Amino acid sequence: MRVCVNLADYEQAAKLRMTKSAFGYYAAGAGDELTLRANVEAFQRLRLRPRMLVDVTQRDPSTTLLGHRVPMPVTVAPMGFHRLAHPEGELATVRAVTGQGLIFVASTMATSTLEAIAAAATGRLWFQLYCFRDREITRSLIRRAEAAGYSAFQLTVDVPVLGRREADIRNNFQLPEDCRVANLEPYGLGSIRGGSDRESSAQEYTDRLFDASLTWETVDWIRSQTRLPVMLKGILRGDDAARGIDHGATGIVVSNHGGRQLDSGVSTFEVLPEIVQAVRGRVPVLIDSGVRRGVDVVKALAVGASAVQLGRPVLWGLAVDGQAGVERVLSLFRMELDNALALCGCPNLAAIGPDLIARRFAEFLS
Ligand SMILES: Cc1cc2nc3c(=O)[nH]c(=O)nc-3n(C[C@H](O)[C@H](O)[C@H](O)COP(=O)(O)O)c2cc1C
Repeated sequence: MRVCVNLADYEQAAKLRMTKSAFGYYAAGAGDELTLRANVEAFQRLRLRPRMLVDVTQRDPSTTLLGHRVPMPVTVAPMGFHRLAHPEGELATVRAVTGQGLIFVASTMATSTLEAIAAAATGRLWFQLYCFRDREITRSLIRRAEAAGYSAFQLTVDVPVLGRREADIRNNFQLPEDCRVANLEPYGLGSIRGGSDRESSAQEYTDRLFDASLTWETVDWIRSQTRLPVMLKGILRGDDAARGIDHGATGIVVSNHGGRQLDSGVSTFEVLPEIVQAVRGRVPVLIDSGVRRGVDVVKALAVGASAVQLGRPVLWGLAVDGQAGVERVLSLFRMELDNALALCGCPNLAAIGPDLIARRFAEFLS
């Protein structure tokens, strides 16, 4: 096999190793995949003005996220069903991610329990929360995550219903019997099977169990259930970000779920300036959806983000070589970031500012 020298190579290598249905589940966006493509293109469009003649022999990409020191401004986005990629699933991923000192965001829809993920971790964990119609399930997940030592929540707000991912309908996607929605097994909801030629099994499952009546009051309710920080994941507008802070959000994750929800929704990078402006530095702003290159971190931070979340590329690494594959994806990404910092004349993250952005991208300088 060809050696993988960037994250896109890992996607190609993963495709060769995975079943069509599992690869389709990971790769697919909703509808015509307009937003999926726009996410990557938005990062690619921006051009940088590198600074010359700066001593960059020592480079430090470390930062602090919610009070925790991390070696680079990158977390791993919450994604379901890691066992579709590798038999060790989330346990392999979390070992790789926390082993490198990075924060792993465990998904409600993990194929390992949040407790098993915590036991395998050697570093900091956040938990991604979906709010269920049955509030007792949500309450129980919060309690369990607190007891297992997770230090913050990301409440996902962009799934009142699931986006229509047509690949999953075409491939008749089923969660294999040996893959369970482990966190939900205690409530009799461990299996995702079924579906039809109109709706995938995942869509059927989500639309039956997730709470489409979620409102800002629900955010207040979630906050009343925990003393841990609660970030809102899936925000795409400045006014929603500001309102989130009014409702006590301790972080905003600009995300469109990797183009898996509203097709024709805006790309995340194009709305980042609006959101940074609305947040006014009160809480950290993270961004995911379309981050594929180390230089994307420089772009996101130049616009005012605190960190990025890496999504699908982590799953590609996992599919290719388990824990070692994830480690390699993360270290490749880190090398790209290090290289971009040096070439921009930035010895550290504090040196990244809006002056790096080419002036013709005026919208990013607002
Ligand atoms: C296979 C897959 C599963 C996902 N599962 C979840 C999930 O359970 N909860 C959640 O909040 N987001 C989930 N996401 C969205 C990610 O957290 C993140 O927003 C997205 O992957 C970013 O886009 P990118 O992978 O194209 O960079 C999932 C994404 C993928 C690709």
